Amino acid sequence: MIKINEHYLKLQASYLFSNIAKKVGEFQEANPDKDIIRLGIGDVTRALPQACTDAFHSAIDEMATDSGFRGYGPEQGYDFLREAIAKNDFQARGADISADEIFVSDGAKCDTGNIQELFTTDAKIAIPDPVYPVYLDTNVMAGRTGGFEDGRYKGIIYLDSTKENNYVPSLPTEKPDLIYLCFPNNPTGSTITKAELKTWVDYAKENQALILFDAAYEAFIRDESLPKSIYEVEGAKEVAIEFRSFSKSAGFTGTRCAYTVVPKECAAFDAKGGKQLIHPLWNRRHCTKFNGVSYPVQRAAEAVYSEAGKAQARDLVAGYLKNADLIAREIKDLGYGFIGGDNSPYIWIEGNRDSWEFFDMLLNKAGVVCTPGAGFGKCGEGYIRLSAFNSYENVEKAMIRIKEALA
Ligand code: MLT
Repeated sequence: MIKINEHYLKLQASYLFSNIAKKVGEFQEANPDKDIIRLGIGDVTRALPQACTDAFHSAIDEMATDSGFRGYGPEQGYDFLREAIAKNDFQARGADISADEIFVSDGAKCDTGNIQELFTTDAKIAIPDPVYPVYLDTNVMAGRTGGFEDGRYKGIIYLDSTKENNYVPSLPTEKPDLIYLCFPNNPTGSTITKAELKTWVDYAKENQALILFDAAYEAFIRDESLPKSIYEVEGAKEVAIEFRSFSKSAGFTGTRCAYTVVPKECAAFDAKGGKQLIHPLWNRRHCTKFNGVSYPVQRAAEAVYSEAGKAQARDLVAGYLKNADLIAREIKDLGYGFIGGDNSPYIWIEGNRDSWEFFDMLLNKAGVVCTPGAGFGKCGEGYIRLSAFNSYENVEKAMIRIKEALA
């Protein structure tokens, strides 16, 4: 008799953003004339940088000739892209990461979800609350948790990120094996200083733990004193894996390109306590289960690092940051507490009421989609998240409507 993986039965009925999309779809069907402005899921809306589309077109033209055609590429990504990443995103900031430590993929969502496969099912997991749901759900699927009770899965070490700690979790009292961190944070938009990040790196070293650092939003950092990569912290290469994406930095959500950095010295332990390097294991997994990102997409991603590409990607991000700034100013005017919006596209707002109720109210009264904080965890209850990914005109319109709805 074929039996299902019972751990899937512990999951909440549907993935947060699918649930929201369904609710918004139903609302639109019932109100076909209502103009809905989406500030919910962090999905980009502006065109790809011209440098990227130019490179994309020429790569497709190459593929249209027998001499330029490419079949399967290297699973880890083409050298031209891995080298551009290592040089521009790391070496230029003093982080000693080499091209062969970069694994190009089709998304940070997939990589942050898949990486847990490398570790034992009894690995103790520390996960921030609120959190991007993928880290938690993939560990539930893998059987690392008990059931869901009172808004939390049993067996997880939750790292509360609250107003009291400025949305940067404190070190846990119970010892974890695997620690998820995300900065600039999704969903709160909070950032971490180099000194704070160092306490986590030191903690991981002392406790033989590993940090999974999601830096998908690093392009939004404008405060030069903040670290963009965990590898700017000394010693991090031994205890941290970092995830990056072109989705938000260059508008690739629909194009799909991201990468994971697994430094060669980064290690976990085997059953006998011996050190096992992670790089060959992730390489093994990647080659077995993934066939590489398409050649034209990797050429488009490479173009992000050209002079024109850098300027255009920076403009793209600056546009979203301008939206974020407008949202933050209007929310402040309304007298609501919030964080984020300065080095992040997300604004995390203290709604002081049930967050799904706030979501329904904004949808019904303002025709604006937000993300209810409770969808990101127990500590998100009472909050909503607004995303800056839309046109400036739509954000202006949304804020007028939100003001009217809350008046
Ligand atoms: C979000 O809205 O939190 C993100 O867009 C989700 C994602 O990047 O997968």
